[in-house]
Amino acid sequence: MRIVGGTPLNGEISIGGAKNLALPAMTASILVDEDIKLTNVPLLSDIGSLSELLTHIGCDVRCNDEHSLTLSTKSLKTVEAPYDFVRKMRASILVLGPLLARFGKAVVSLPGGCSIGPRGVDLHLRALEHMGAIISIENGYIKANAPKGLHGCDMTFPVTTVTGTENILMAAVLAKGTTRLINAATEPEVVALADLLNQMGGRISGHGTSMIIIDGVDSLHGAEFEIIPDRIEAGTYAIAAAATGGEIFLKNCKCKHLTAFFETLALNGVECEEKIDGVRIRRRNAEIKPSDVQTAPYPGFPTDLQAQYTVLMSICDGTASVTENIFENRFMHIPEILRMGANVSVHGKTAVITGVNKLKGAPVMATDLRASVALVIAGLVAEGETIVSRLYHIDRGYEGIEQKLLSCGANVERFSV
Ligand code: EPU
Repeated sequence: MRIVGGTPLNGEISIGGAKNLALPAMTASILVDEDIKLTNVPLLSDIGSLSELLTHIGCDVRCNDEHSLTLSTKSLKTVEAPYDFVRKMRASILVLGPLLARFGKAVVSLPGGCSIGPRGVDLHLRALEHMGAIISIENGYIKANAPKGLHGCDMTFPVTTVTGTENILMAAVLAKGTTRLINAATEPEVVALADLLNQMGGRISGHGTSMIIIDGVDSLHGAEFEIIPDRIEAGTYAIAAAATGGEIFLKNCKCKHLTAFFETLALNGVECEEKIDGVRIRRRNAEIKPSDVQTAPYPGFPTDLQAQYTVLMSICDGTASVTENIFENRFMHIPEILRMGANVSVHGKTAVITGVNKLKGAPVMATDLRASVALVIAGLVAEGETIVSRLYHIDRGYEGIEQKLLSCGANVERFSV
């Protein structure tokens, strides 16, 4: 993407459905032989990758329109999720719980390394073992069997895991007896997945708190479900508006899903006004005040907005620190923004950022989804031309980003080399 920076973003951006709910909602369709219709599904490459994997195992994935899918898994072709799918997208691990719950077996490639950190799946496996699954790792594959079915258990997660909680929710919903997940993730996407499972006939309570109770049922039925708005997409455009000194209306954004984030932006001197159908973000002429941030599981400051926020702090009036507590290697955007004139030093998991008056355009390279959009924001702020390469990362999480930015007056152009 070629970006000529310096223009404040002004206008309205419509926030799409949440990628990190659409993915587990799609795999929930494995649990049932009836149709699961999902609406407000974002058009993203990750959704395409998961559709391919689900089709490979025998699920029928139909597009009703651009943002609606109907999935039905009457029977399976295979219980194996091969490496080629899983390496493209770690969230493929979300087929493990549903396959095991409905079909009693699953073979899923172990996700490999990841640009943002090692990201184990040991807690997914440990919980499934507590539920009676026999699990072995062979040739890079997780082989899981539950010939007599899964049974309920108490599982305390030593660290909060989003997809871990989701995988076990989907396994436990069809298990015999009651499962209690302690220190469960409370992210809005986890809550919405539990809502979907309940709509399918599941008996889940406590979702949204750190203890989820799942009373297993014998079978589930079809459902129609709307994906909630993507809070990370919304937060990203909020930062872009704040950083460029503009004003945008984030249509569909749910303020309550981003409380810690909007409280931080308010400390930075950015106006965030909740409306019935969205949130208005405005920064006019005022300096960006520094504020220290620590990423944390929900309801804390989201790790998925850390890279974008670091860019905002790079032009603040003072010094701020940003501590990344979730992933070990999520500062890959920093060497790139240093090349654009930012003043940042990294000390372990903390980045200390002293604001500069201006960033300057430069060729930069994206390393992951959130780093790539952070570099786009840096380009929108910078003086002169920035070229962000390896932009394919951005298509995993931001539908139509160039059109959305263009509609708010940004000078951006996408091209292939
Ligand atoms: N962890 C373990 N063992 C496990 C599971 C997790 O050690 O078995 C550790 C991880 O290594 C990490 C921490 O626990 O240090 C939290 O990881 P979590 O499992 O919560 O992350 P995830 O479920 O793999 C989801 C999102 C990520 C988001 C994180 C944190 C999806 C598909 N992915 O990942 O989204 O950053 O939660 O909120 O929901 C993104 O959208 O850009 C993205 C990376």
